[in-house]
Amino acid sequence: MKFFLDTANIDEIRQGVEMGMVDGITTNPSLVAKEGREFRAILEDICELVDGPVSAEVVSTQFSGMIQEAHSLAEIHENIVVKIPMIFEGLKAIHQLSKEGIKVNVTLIFSASQALMAAKAGATYVSPFVGRLDDVSHPGMDVIQQIVTIFDNYDFNTQVLVASIRHPLHVVEAAMMGADVGTMPFKVLEQLIKHPLTDVGLARFLKDWEKLAV
Ligand code: E4P
Repeated sequence: MKFFLDTANIDEIRQGVEMGMVDGITTNPSLVAKEGREFRAILEDICELVDGPVSAEVVSTQFSGMIQEAHSLAEIHENIVVKIPMIFEGLKAIHQLSKEGIKVNVTLIFSASQALMAAKAGATYVSPFVGRLDDVSHPGMDVIQQIVTIFDNYDFNTQVLVASIRHPLHVVEAAMMGADVGTMPFKVLEQLIKHPLTDVGLARFLKDWEKLAV
């Protein structure tokens, strides 16, 4: 399973890369706005640090605007994946961009039917938002299981990119279901490393070692 970091923060990305845990990056307009820097400059910095796909989202909601933005974003670096929202105009744009060989990550997916349509349109990734589904009392991971099954049934090449991950169990369950990618905030990456028994065990080993040194 590939790990993507869901952030536009360069310090977090650098730390993740140093851990060897970052296979790619996803950004969205909200994450970029938090950084208070120019979008293209952020993307250039990320592409310099990360050897993997970097998702950058369009903000137009019309076909022509999406295509224009997608072309401009794709020019920044070969690793840029254009994020397109799952709306009617978006589907047309996914179809067009995939014919042109531009990689697309279809965002704001909340159902298996949306994922199926995005895959049929030629998406490279679909991004179902598990955390936001959980927030409205719909089990997000159930949708992941449905999408994985459907893509397996028909041998779609589209990758399931589990998004809106809120905690380590989302990652573990996604891995058990065979999802291709999980994109997570830096905090979740840190949480995945930790176990209280590891800390207690290490403290005990070091204390015992001190006795030997005396
Ligand atoms: C990633 O592509 C999504 O934009 C992101 O995972 C959304 O996460 P959130 O629901 O925590 O904002």
